[in-house]
Amino acid sequence: MPKKKNPSTAPLIETRKLCKSYCNDELETPVLHDIDLTIHEEEFISIMGPSGSGKSTLMHILGFLDQPTSGKFLFRGEPTRTMSDDELAAIRATRVSFVFQAFNLLPRTTVLDNVILPLLYHPTIPPSERIERGMNAIEAVGLTDRATYFTNQLSGGQQQRVAIARALVTSPDIIFADEPTGNLDSTSGSQVMEALQDLHDRGGRTIILVTHEQSTAAHAKRIIHLLDGRIDSDSKKFKRVTAKNNHNLKK
Ligand SMILES: Nc1ncnc2c1ncn2[C@@H]1O[C@H](COP(=O)(O)OP(=O)(O)OP(=O)(O)O)[C@@H](O)[C@H]1O
Ligand SMILES: [Mg+2]
Repeated sequence: MPKKKNPSTAPLIETRKLCKSYCNDELETPVLHDIDLTIHEEEFISIMGPSGSGKSTLMHILGFLDQPTSGKFLFRGEPTRTMSDDELAAIRATRVSFVFQAFNLLPRTTVLDNVILPLLYHPTIPPSERIERGMNAIEAVGLTDRATYFTNQLSGGQQQRVAIARALVTSPDIIFADEPTGNLDSTSGSQVMEALQDLHDRGGRTIILVTHEQSTAAHAKRIIHLLDGRIDSDSKKFKRVTAKNNHNLKK
C-alpha cells in the first residue's frame, strides 16, 4: 500500500521525479524531466520559460487534465496514481479551475449564466446557492454592474475577468491560469492581474499562473523557470507589485 500523508498537514501538491512524454504513432517526445515541486496552500506562483519548455504540460498535469508518465504526484498527501476515475473526476469538478488565454465564454449568454455554469453539475453545491455564489464571484472581479450583460458586449479584459469569476465560483483549492493576459492589451492585462492578485491577497486563493511576461509574473510571490522541461530556478520574492483595491478596477 502506498504511504498516505495526513491530508491536513500535507502540502497541497507534491511532485517527485515527475516526468512526462507524449507518445504518438510510436514517436515518443519527452517533455518534462524529474520535476520536484512542493506547493502549499495560499501560494501565488508564476511558471515561466521559453515556448515549448513544458509550462502548459506541467500545468495540465498539476490540474488533473493530463497524467504524468512516471514519478510521484501527490494531492494533499494522496498519491494521484492510486485514485479511482470517480475520485479524479470529483477533484476536477470541485478542487481545481482553469483560466485560459482564449476566454472560452458562451456568447449571447449573460455574465451570470456563464459564471454559474460550473455549478450546474456540481456534486455538492445545491441549486439554491447558484445565484448568490455567482454574484459573489462576479463582485470579486469588480463586474457586478455587468452581471446581466451578454459576454459579447464586454471588453476583452472584462471577458477574462468573467472567466476568472467562473473559475472562482466553485471555491476551488487552486486556480490555474495559462497565459491569461496573452490576448489582452497592457491596460486590460493589468486589470486581469489585479483581479487575480486581489483574489490571492484578500481571498487567500492558491494561484498558479503560466506566463511569458515578466511584468505579469511580477505579481506572484514565487517564480519557477522551466528550461527544456526541467526546473531551471525556483525562487521566492519578498517584494512584488502591490494589489490595488478591486473596487478601483476600471469598467
Ligand atoms: N499532444 C502532444 N503531442 C506531442 N508533443 C506535444 C503535445 N503537446 C505538447 N507537445 C510538445 O511538448 C513540448 C512542450 O509543450 P508545452 O505546450 O507544454 O509548452 P509551453 O511551455 O506551454 O509553450 P508555449 O509557451 O508556446 O505555450 C513542446 O515541444 C510540444 O511540441
Ligand atoms: Mg503553453
